[in-house]
Amino acid sequence: MSDDPETPNLDFAGTTPYEDYVKADLLTHAQQLRSDDPGEMVFLVTTQVMELWFTVIVHEWETASRALDEDRTAVALDALERSAQEFAALNASWRPIARLTPAQFNAYRGALGEGSGFQSAMYRRMEFLLGEKSASMLVPHRGAPRVHAELEKALAQPSLYDVVLRLLARRGLPVPAEVLARDLTRRYEPSEGVERAWAAVYADPGAHPDLARLGEALTDVAELVGRWRTDHLVATRRAMGSKPGTGGSAGVAWLEKRSAAVVFPELWSARGHV
Ligand code: HEM
Repeated sequence: MSDDPETPNLDFAGTTPYEDYVKADLLTHAQQLRSDDPGEMVFLVTTQVMELWFTVIVHEWETASRALDEDRTAVALDALERSAQEFAALNASWRPIARLTPAQFNAYRGALGEGSGFQSAMYRRMEFLLGEKSASMLVPHRGAPRVHAELEKALAQPSLYDVVLRLLARRGLPVPAEVLARDLTRRYEPSEGVERAWAAVYADPGAHPDLARLGEALTDVAELVGRWRTDHLVATRRAMGSKPGTGGSAGVAWLEKRSAAVVFPELWSARGHV
């Protein structure tokens, strides 16, 4: 104990209250390096940091989905606008590994074995919330019951975009019935009717101020997801050129196709009709 009233507490019977809350010991001892290369640490920690941001963002989008379902648009907008800031921080975390040369990456690449971000379950949950559903993405997780169960639940639930479209329909916008009744376990396909609904929101934002703000928050999210994909693609192209990926894909050629997918497509295409 200190006599100086301005000094922080030093005496704790067990672990510190900070540790009890933050689990810093767990986080800072989860770096089991597999090579002697000094560059492996930042590659692993960047990946772990990104997993944590994916977790926060999934939390925000699930919060937003629940709120939208209950017509609490202010709560949903707060969560979505926070998630855009978080996504910007996620994207900034590419910096330390964005310029790896093939020789630098090769120094520990072999240690990754068949490990690949393709096997990230939290990234898949983000994609499912964006409407990019695919049952086959559950297959790699068959051996991990908790992860598999979470993904299975997320596959069946409406995506954030589905929930938004239901809200638009409740507000009287012409969202086609077949879109509202779509098979939620399948990838969302763009619809001209939905494009018309967004065009109506954007043509007269004063008539639906919260929907117009929602459209812009979702557009921010879509833009930031696209940027993550492009940054990943370019980092990969720099680090390994045309080689196949550790996860067994064709590598850059496969990622190019993946990053061509447009997030919330009608929020972009509607702009041509306003
Ligand atoms: C410069 C370092 C990196 C390289 C060279 C790289 C390379 C690749 C490649 C080639 C793929 C395609 C699948 C495969 O065959 O492996 C892939 C997928 C993926 N990577 Fe990376 N990656 C890097 C860093 C990261 C980091 C730090 C993360 C963060 C978690 C990450 C997350 C992902 C995800 C989520 C996918 C699946 C994308 C999808 O399904 O569309 N990658 N990566």
